[in-house]
Amino acid sequence: MRFDDLRDWIKESEELGELKRVEHADWDVEIGTIVDLYQEKMGLPALLFDKIKGYPPGYRILANSLTSIKRIALTLGLPPEATALDIVKLWLDYLRNFNLVPPRVVEKGPILENVQEKDDINLLAFPAPKWHELDGGRYLGTGCVVIMKDPDSDWVNLGVYRVQVFDESTLSVMISKGKQGSIIMQKYWDSGQPCPVAISFGHDVLLYLVGGMEIPYGVCEYDVCGGLRGEPVEVIKGTKTNLPIPATGEIVIEGEIHPDQFVESEGPFGEWTGYYAGGRKPQPKINVKAVLHRDNPIILGAMPRVPPNDDTYYRGFLRSAAVWDELEKAGVPGIQGVWAHEAGGGRFMLTVSIKQLYPGHAKQAGLIASQCHSGGYANRITLVVDDDIDPANTNEVIWVLCTRTDPREDVEILKRCWSTRLDPMSYPEEARVLNSRMVIDACRPWERLDTFSPVVRPSTELKDKVIEKWRDLFPAG
Ligand SMILES: Cc1cc2nc3c(=O)[nH]c(=O)nc-3n(C[C@H](O)[C@H](O)[C@H](O)COP(=O)(O)O)c2cc1C
Repeated sequence: MRFDDLRDWIKESEELGELKRVEHADWDVEIGTIVDLYQEKMGLPALLFDKIKGYPPGYRILANSLTSIKRIALTLGLPPEATALDIVKLWLDYLRNFNLVPPRVVEKGPILENVQEKDDINLLAFPAPKWHELDGGRYLGTGCVVIMKDPDSDWVNLGVYRVQVFDESTLSVMISKGKQGSIIMQKYWDSGQPCPVAISFGHDVLLYLVGGMEIPYGVCEYDVCGGLRGEPVEVIKGTKTNLPIPATGEIVIEGEIHPDQFVESEGPFGEWTGYYAGGRKPQPKINVKAVLHRDNPIILGAMPRVPPNDDTYYRGFLRSAAVWDELEKAGVPGIQGVWAHEAGGGRFMLTVSIKQLYPGHAKQAGLIASQCHSGGYANRITLVVDDDIDPANTNEVIWVLCTRTDPREDVEILKRCWSTRLDPMSYPEEARVLNSRMVIDACRPWERLDTFSPVVRPSTELKDKVIEKWRDLFPAG
């Protein structure tokens, strides 16, 4: 299954019973509260809001898009019965083969149905929600993709970074330090130039899914989407920026970010960590030069809350695969599995399962997992467990943490690592961009592998024999 736009994705989700329509909700915290309640449990339907208070019918918001395994599978082209492990394996497979299909430039597309420039620009025409009670304002961009081009090469980067709307013509973007968008923007600023930017606020969910992942430096997320779809994404060259914008996008803005122009106070915003930790801060202001939108446009929202949530749930599966891949690419053998726990927002807690092959192997795996591109940002705890442990099984992981860890030898504290204000424990006080973290070797000690106390579990042979004999007691077996 391949979708050409958000509308195709909505249709297919609805046919699968994976989408609910909601009418007459208020953009002012009511939509956010409904979405919050729907995220108390993963696996509930996506929500399509229409007839939003104060807005014309047809101006819609899609939320809760990637909070079910079925819809993540659908977005990635897997069958609806796919499991969490199928998703991890698909992404691992993709990263190993890394098939890239560049976008196809076309002249026309539905995104050109309405074009506003200069005094016609009115960003308040779209029902941007105030998602949470303590948010500092309304966010047009949460499931958006921010498109920028590296000034030194042809590389076009797409990243999901939040966008607040202040009035008819003012937007801000919040990009954490070290993210590719921040690095690109800084390059323009260092040479005294404004950074051209285009932002798409509604599009095929695959574009959002890929935009939220750490794709290697120099690789364009459009090419990744093309590789996953087996078909190029169609783009139009923006007339104000020359940046490639999705031809079937719902709402796109084009503009510039000047080095000396900031909104005074962006945020606070209820973030993926489960806190309003980023607070209120100046952030880069976008000078909007054009707004393009389809008739009856749909905003793709992705509302964070205490994890797991719409922002982090899908990324846990993909991050597990990405860290696994990066460990292998760094030359660490014997990886049996990786899990980025959903309660840690898919970032704070990583567990790596290995077959120990040499002394120091477990520590090496843990240190690299906690620092690689996909695992390095805002991690707090990285655990390494033996190959008899399923890293996604919380009880098994806690059991070996309790029984195979010697805190004197097995816990490394790393200081001044890559983090963000969104991490409530980040430091130093003002900048809040660093954190400390723990790498825990919860494997049996290498030198005691042959003598470590045996685990109280029947052997596979005995288990099979007993199940065979007592079939009535074990129908699923
Ligand atoms: C829903 C959602 C919202 C996000 N919001 C932000 C944000 O506001 N700022 C930010 O720096 N990263 C944010 N991220 C994380 C980045 O999108 C992610 O780290 C991605 O890899 C960044 O792209 P890059 O590697 O091209 O920089 C968000 C991700 C998702 C899925």
